[in-house]
Amino acid sequence: MKKKVLLMGASGSGKTSMRSLIFSNNPASLTARLGATIDVEQNHVRFLGDLILNLWDCGGQESFMDSYLTTGQSTIFQHAGVLIYVFEVESRNAARDLEYYDQCLASLQKYSPDAAVFLLVHKMDLVRGSKASVLEKKAHELKEASHGADVTVFGTSIYDESLYKAWSSIVHTLIPNAAVLSKHLTTLARACSATEVILFERTTFLVIATSSPPPVATASSGSLHVSSSTNSSVSSHTANGVPSSALSHGSTLTSDEDASENDPHRLAPTRYERTSELIKAFKHACSRVREEFHALEMELDEFTAVLDEMTKNTYVLIVVHDPTIETAALRMNIRLARRKFE
Ligand code: GTP
Repeated sequence: MKKKVLLMGASGSGKTSMRSLIFSNNPASLTARLGATIDVEQNHVRFLGDLILNLWDCGGQESFMDSYLTTGQSTIFQHAGVLIYVFEVESRNAARDLEYYDQCLASLQKYSPDAAVFLLVHKMDLVRGSKASVLEKKAHELKEASHGADVTVFGTSIYDESLYKAWSSIVHTLIPNAAVLSKHLTTLARACSATEVILFERTTFLVIATSSPPPVATASSGSLHVSSSTNSSVSSHTANGVPSSALSHGSTLTSDEDASENDPHRLAPTRYERTSELIKAFKHACSRVREEFHALEMELDEFTAVLDEMTKNTYVLIVVHDPTIETAALRMNIRLARRKFE
């Protein structure tokens, strides 16, 4: 199954950077070296085995944009499943950006009326002052410019986990059996007395499904508040010698500031994207010392977590707040559950 994903927006807005972070596991610091995209760069990314994301990274220089909207219009916009339009939050050419967006949206509605539209207000790290209010204002402006079209707005930055939140939501809309996967994860969570079980895609580490109901997609400022935890121990099965600093500077899964009032374990709302970001950073650290990342166990004061391969294309993370449950039991349950997920 092939899904065409259009990645559009002004030149320099950060399209190729986010693609290289999510799909090629490159660190944010290397994106400054990327050259401008010439015309369209097409990539086929195998996602979850059967699903192939046909990613069209459309160079944003005006001469290219003009050709997408004239001679290339049908080629670009037909058969699209998703349009991701990237806006720089502090663009010097905001009016021009909106003009192009308006034309792209009209072309999409003509050639792929059922495509989902995601608008990323990008480079949020550059905002000084209240990110939330800047994003709210921008989201309002973009929704107005969308003339009633159903659009989802996210605030993103390559320098924090907000990018993973946005992209996890985007790919979630493309996964046909996400509800079935969630049901299986809920069963597994119950079998393990787990607080939560999360399924990640192997290469991107984007969240595919969770045992809890998915959070409602809303505009996000990407701000994060993570409490540090003491006496935490992190053990990796393969990455001997890899500094665990990528993981040990804070608990990904709990936060005093973000925790929901009604949640007995005070789980942070940003825990999914934080985990994606941290594991990607850890995998990158592993590759730098030529170790391959396979699995991970964490035994912290507050909780135990096991991250292991579920299928060829997925990883599963089980989080347990009951100190009497052994990690070996969790690993065995993962082994037994594999058949269901294949
Ligand atoms: P074209 O290929 O010309 O369409 O541009 P593009 O949209 O692909 O932009 P690209 O990804 O090449 O990024 C341009 C610059 O923005 C690079 O120097 C990146 O390092 C920088 N950049 C990308 N994302 C972010 C971000 O979230 N924050 C900040 N501060 N800089 C970013």
